[in-house]
Amino acid sequence: MELRHLRYFVAVAEEKSFSRAALRLHISQPPLSRQIRQLEEDLGMVLFVRASRPLALTRAGRFFYHHAVQLLASALELKTLTRRIGHPGRTLSVGLVTSTLYGLLPLILRRFRAALPQVAIRLQEMTPAEQGQALTDGIIDVGFGRLSDGNVRLQQRTLRQEPLMVAMTAHHPLAGAATLTLHDLQTETLLVYPQAPCPAFTGPQRQASPTSVVTPRHIVEVGGFQLALALVAAGEGITLIPECLQCLQRDEVIYRPLGEAHLFSPVVMSTRRLDPSDDIRLLLTLIYQLYDERNIPHIKPAAE
Ligand code: BEZ
Repeated sequence: MELRHLRYFVAVAEEKSFSRAALRLHISQPPLSRQIRQLEEDLGMVLFVRASRPLALTRAGRFFYHHAVQLLASALELKTLTRRIGHPGRTLSVGLVTSTLYGLLPLILRRFRAALPQVAIRLQEMTPAEQGQALTDGIIDVGFGRLSDGNVRLQQRTLRQEPLMVAMTAHHPLAGAATLTLHDLQTETLLVYPQAPCPAFTGPQRQASPTSVVTPRHIVEVGGFQLALALVAAGEGITLIPECLQCLQRDEVIYRPLGEAHLFSPVVMSTRRLDPSDDIRLLLTLIYQLYDERNIPHIKPAAE
């Protein structure tokens, strides 16, 4: 059995058709069918229910598919990592969600560049899901986001829990408060955006601790933090942002700390599990150094 057999099998399983898989693989159908038959003979198992339309996997086929996908991903990862090692004109490719660019990331990258001027840095905006795929495909080396999605192929480190701020108009009745609590926000319209920054209003923590969370009466989901802040300026409601976004000074919008220790926006760094790269190690060292320098509370795993 060769990697080629796995690629052919996965294409047929995903396309649910030999003819579509042949098109995807840019080969004709007879050799594809021959390769799949060879694979089945080698395994001594039938992998497809050929009579079904669309084509279905047998029980053995489903098991084989699950592992074949992982093996192909590992093979690609191995190729990418091996190519990268010892490559003189190296690049550090970084995937990021926009909000991390307003925090410490620019300074960390400046320090990285000063330490390793020969390494080019490439930045790409990506959602956490896109980062996961791009890491597996070898397109980026590291991703920064605000979500740890339990992807087993990745090493996801929560670097710190960034405090949240309440954004509101300057003449809002709560503008005079030094700090706000969820209780203060109970009658407000809260503008939230997908996946961030406040899991208590959008995700599992809400169900996990229903008694500890006071929920604002009106919650409106909007496309992202820039839109949320524009709507705050327009008097449509208030929003919660990670502390670093305070640097986005808009006329009419002010920020007050949210004094709820259990609500925060994590900063999550994702890398490939197998990645032994010195560049990643340096990046981590620079991040923790900066946290120490500025007395920023953070989470440093014992082994790093
Ligand atoms: C931070 O703000 O803590 C941070 C953001 C991006 C990368 C690393 C750290």
